[in-house]
Amino acid sequence: MKQFLIATVIAGLSLTGIQIEAQVYLDARQPVEKRVKDLMKRMTLEEKVAQMSQYVGIEHMKKAEKEMTVEEMRKSHATGFYPNLHSSELEELTKKGMVGSFLHVVTWKEANYLQSLALQSRLKIPVLVGIDAIHGNGLYNGATIYPTPIGQASTFDEALVEKASRETALEMRAAGMHWTFTPNVEVARDARWGRVGETFGEDPYLVGRMGAATVRGFQSNDFTGSDKVIACAKHFIAGSQPINGINGAPADISDRTLWEVFMPPFKACNDAGVFTFMMAHNELNGVPCHSSSYLMTDVLRKQWKFDGFVVSDWMDVERLHDYHRVAPTLDQAYRMSVANGLDMHMHGPGFAESIADAVRTRKISIKRIDEAVSKILEAKFKLGLFENPFIEGEKVDQRIFTPEHQKTALDMARKSIVLLKNEGDLLPLDKSKKQRIFVTGPNADNQTILGDWVFVQPDDRTTTIIEGLRQVAPENEFVFYPFGRNLRKMQPSQVQEAVQQSKGCDVAVVVVGENSMRYHWADKTCGENSDRYDLSLVGLQQQLVEDIHATGIPVIVVLVNGRPLSTEWIAETIPALIEAWEPGSLGGQAVAEIIFGDVNPEAKLPITIPRHSGQIQTYYNYKFTSKWFKYATGNSKPLFEFGYGLSYSRFKIGAPRLSSGELNPGGTLQASVEVTNVGQVAGSEVVQLYIRDLYSSVTRPVKELKAYRKVHLQPGETQTIRFDLSEKELKFYDEAMNYVAEPGEFELMIGNSSRDADLKKVKFQLL
Ligand code: BGC
Repeated sequence: MKQFLIATVIAGLSLTGIQIEAQVYLDARQPVEKRVKDLMKRMTLEEKVAQMSQYVGIEHMKKAEKEMTVEEMRKSHATGFYPNLHSSELEELTKKGMVGSFLHVVTWKEANYLQSLALQSRLKIPVLVGIDAIHGNGLYNGATIYPTPIGQASTFDEALVEKASRETALEMRAAGMHWTFTPNVEVARDARWGRVGETFGEDPYLVGRMGAATVRGFQSNDFTGSDKVIACAKHFIAGSQPINGINGAPADISDRTLWEVFMPPFKACNDAGVFTFMMAHNELNGVPCHSSSYLMTDVLRKQWKFDGFVVSDWMDVERLHDYHRVAPTLDQAYRMSVANGLDMHMHGPGFAESIADAVRTRKISIKRIDEAVSKILEAKFKLGLFENPFIEGEKVDQRIFTPEHQKTALDMARKSIVLLKNEGDLLPLDKSKKQRIFVTGPNADNQTILGDWVFVQPDDRTTTIIEGLRQVAPENEFVFYPFGRNLRKMQPSQVQEAVQQSKGCDVAVVVVGENSMRYHWADKTCGENSDRYDLSLVGLQQQLVEDIHATGIPVIVVLVNGRPLSTEWIAETIPALIEAWEPGSLGGQAVAEIIFGDVNPEAKLPITIPRHSGQIQTYYNYKFTSKWFKYATGNSKPLFEFGYGLSYSRFKIGAPRLSSGELNPGGTLQASVEVTNVGQVAGSEVVQLYIRDLYSSVTRPVKELKAYRKVHLQPGETQTIRFDLSEKELKFYDEAMNYVAEPGEFELMIGNSSRDADLKKVKFQLL
């Protein structure tokens, strides 16, 4: 009787317990930590590893199933497909709660549909939808497209980068997406690599500042809320200095370079609270990043106290087996990466079963799985997915490409376009002269201005360059000769025809560059997996510029490209050169406004432009001996230096003054300069501060950017800019790789580019 009573009481309690508990993870008023714990308690091992599994969107699969043979799909890197899994089977898996996340879901309808499948599962855990919203939610039709990150970095305007990221987060949530695979904070050191355009350039400090601003914009600090998204610092690490410039090729670099150059921007993102890291395709000094416990566990978790989750890149866990060959079987590849710190697998089947089996056979601890799953669930709770898994489809259109977002995209485009040359003040063109302007070139009238990570966008949401010119200066006459977008297929007869048509015109605008359109995968020349061994203009573009120049018409060359191009002849011969990068939805308007002087250019190069691919690597923060000797032929200097960019105003930057000639450890030194606009129009200048350690126990770069400030000045106006400097800015890794500042003499340089000629110097002593 006693036993019966006890049993009844326990049963009663646990029944009540279940009722109370049932409300815990579904109860939005409970703290996230408690909800995660409660849900984890209820999950089977299979349900847990399912959370660690990401798949490509079902519509993406259906498209591939319809359009491609199995053989074609097997060979395709870009199209998601799973040889032994049909899209209908993936739907069933989702209903059973066997999918934690999807990527590349590109319509709100699909996003809602996938959530409806997930909510049929036992525990009703919503799916996390990830997408490459790199500069706007570009894979979504109708989104606002901002300039690509290389252009964003050219603004030297972190607040603007944060704003554009915040707006992108709003557009993502409006369409049912919760996780952006950005920022790419790789330090770009090889222009041959096709992905330079999605980075913030070559300087660890600038890349870190821009990366952190991006994270803040997307996540709004703690990303709790139904209008925030989580960000992803990628690709960890050093894939931006690949052997021969090939995406995914080995990174074979010293520990010093790793820590001085490549790590700081990732650390900056971690400090800004980024919730996910994506590992890099490449190996780092012989160890593939996807199997590196040093990177995923020692650096991220232990050293940096990273508190989010790590995702793999597209098929890279599988590549441990079939490319890198560090895992004799796929099972070993899956286990190796998870045991060493990977939390989510992008993408496909095989992984979950294998990991569950590894836990059952004690090859991986359940603790490791719980660690991963709890972070993925934390994201879902904080993002409010349990409360609001669906989005209101009818409201999407009012929330994307809004007038406010367009304004930001335009503002950013205006501030991202770098004026590289303006001989004889050819620019700006005077609208009132009502000139006959010839416009041509393969990038003058198409969506190459949108850059990589964008699918085709509605024409009425894209202002091409010729459209921008017509819109901004309607009183002028434009003679336009189109080329089509395919650079590889330019015909000599087209070039001849263009030259004919240019006859009698007062000036020519020739728009050339690269093509990063990923929906024309075979045609593109730039962007992901479009690396080059030569940085000259593809096809007959060079010929086109030369032939038009030969007619005697003054030529303005506009470059639209996602990587630096070695246009030495153009830079030396053509009077006006504009680097527009890939300026986004309203890029054509911004280019036109700069050409006609409605906007005064203010952007600066975030990356050095080499004269030739043979000059790679070339960057401003080199070691002295890299330039010990000149090349026997040609000009050894880069074409354009980091930090360089012209304005229609002229700025005078005075000599830097220091608050003291000595800096005490723990103290601050103030450096100030006067900046005067000595030009005729208002404009903005980026004042840059560089440091050189004059003598040190290990070699140091000839200069390193430590601070910058943008200042807007009316003609004749002067402002004093102050920078605070502390011991922190003087630290580096000594021989034993301790991060230290050594007492001694330093040189401080301030100016408006990294070129020696543009810098004024003063020395001080660290005590
Ligand atoms: C790229 C990643 C991207 C992923 C998902 C990969 O090919 O390397 O940067 O986030 O695809 O689209």
